[in-house]
Amino acid sequence: MAANPGGDSTDAGGGPVRHVPVLLNEVLAALEPLPGKVILDGTFGAGGYTSAILDFGSDVVALDRDPTAIEVGQALVASSQGRLKLFHSQFSRLAECAPPDGLDGVVLDIGVSSMQIDEADRGFSFQKNGPLDMRMSAAGVSAADVVNRAKVADLIRIFHFLGEESQSPRIAHAIERRRAEKPFETTRDLAGLIELVTPRKMKDKIHPATRVFQALRIFVNDELGELAQALFAAERALKPGGRLVVVTFHSLEDRIVKTFFSDRAGKASGSRHLPVAHERAATFERIGKPMVAATEAEAQENPRARSAKLRAGLRTSAPAEAADVSIFGLPNLASLGKLGA
Ligand SMILES: C[S@@+](CC[C@H](N)C(=O)[O-])C[C@H]1O[C@@H](n2cnc3c(N)ncnc32)[C@H](O)[C@@H]1O
Repeated sequence: MAANPGGDSTDAGGGPVRHVPVLLNEVLAALEPLPGKVILDGTFGAGGYTSAILDFGSDVVALDRDPTAIEVGQALVASSQGRLKLFHSQFSRLAECAPPDGLDGVVLDIGVSSMQIDEADRGFSFQKNGPLDMRMSAAGVSAADVVNRAKVADLIRIFHFLGEESQSPRIAHAIERRRAEKPFETTRDLAGLIELVTPRKMKDKIHPATRVFQALRIFVNDELGELAQALFAAERALKPGGRLVVVTFHSLEDRIVKTFFSDRAGKASGSRHLPVAHERAATFERIGKPMVAATEAEAQENPRARSAKLRAGLRTSAPAEAADVSIFGLPNLASLGKLGA
């Protein structure tokens, strides 16, 4: 679970902070961004990883689905002397931005940036009043569309699967009653209702709206589907010897990355009776420890780092496997995406 998914990030004086890259040294150690290499940064954000990779000598192809990140990133493009190419795109489509002879590395830093949470108009934070939006790409179905139009049964599934919210039915029914009188428009509108209907003992640990806001954000941006497709795309776009490094902040996302690497390790399917020919060749080998977390010092300094998990793999020369999302066992929530139509 993210440390503070719908909360604020503020500096000591209470003002907004720029995004502080998480696990930066560990990412660089796993990526080995040496001169002559081309690394794809699928989550450009404030350019923290990209700047460090450029400093180490590799060229960078970077993407972000947020138009603001691309706009702000133009300064770094201008100072990179042609070594940084920055595209407005989704990381599920990263293979389209890769050079024809393949990539030496792919890095993904999943989730939202501090700038996105800090901007009240984006609607990610229940601690700032703003439109109930949450779209990273500023296009498609918004959180307000979901809350005002989805069937109650679907809201329960979204809050349950993507927020692990134990009060999903209670909250979804309260939303249904309230929206019949007046549709939800703002973050405070929704957070206020959730606070009102959540039993007192549930209010102690985290803000009662935390899990619902997280679930809506993941749903609105199809974050789990994007991640699954990005892993398959990286498998296709990396050269043999190329490195895939993924940092996640949420247990559902980490499970997807862990499942992918263990599926691609080429182990037999578990049956002693299968002939050897049915064993699959590994498309990734592990780099270092199975999972790397932030040091105590980094977690103290940057609360976002507390829930961060890094997993990394080295691409072998085996052909890419089929992009079969059923390996992840994800709930099928995709049909709900038609809400905006
Ligand atoms: C945690 S921030 C990355 C911060 C970056 N590593 C840095 O050091 O500044 C995540 C970024 O990924 C972007 N993002 C999230 N999902 C995306 C997707 N599916 N495709 C492309 N960008 C995405 C967000 O818009 C956000 O800017």
